[in-house]
Amino acid sequence: MRELLAKSLAALTAVIVVGLAAAFSLVQNAPGRQDARLDLRGSQTPRAVAGRTAYDRNGCAGCHAIGGQGNPRSPLDGVGQRLAPDAIRDWIVASDRVRPRLSAGVVRIKQSYAALPEEELQALVDYLASLNVPTDPR
Ligand code: HEC
Repeated sequence: MRELLAKSLAALTAVIVVGLAAAFSLVQNAPGRQDARLDLRGSQTPRAVAGRTAYDRNGCAGCHAIGGQGNPRSPLDGVGQRLAPDAIRDWIVASDRVRPRLSAGVVRIKQSYAALPEEELQALVDYLASLNVPTDPR
């Protein structure tokens, strides 16, 4: 009886240890965890990097946040997963398709982005399209 109890205890302990180790490794290697860090900076293609520069230069962070930085009212984390590149472009320049959903003041500012050089706009789209992690991982 005592031996049985000891054996069960040993088995139980082993199960707990293995379980904890598995849980720990799951948490440490959660899918996307490493990617999340990378993706917050967006893809590292030259155009996406140029897009990040354009994002900073044009004051997008005055209304938007990425990775917890900027205005938390309109986070853009994961926008590449929610929207196709064309739709991202519509939102940047407040095209006819999205204009009714924006206030007049926001439309005015966003429409000024339509005057950006095409290369810069495309870089912005590429950068945002590369943000494919839904939430701020911190
Ligand atoms: C004056 C404020 C303001 C500025 C500046 C601004 N936006 Fe926006 N943007 C908004 C609002 C408001 C929306 C509506 C959706 C929302 O609230 O997330 C929006 C929507 C978007 C969306 C769609 C988001 C989604 O999840 O559907 C994208 C992409 C976007 N903006 C990109 C940009 C980029 C890039 C810049 C800089 C070039 C920029 N915006 C500058 C206010 C702004």
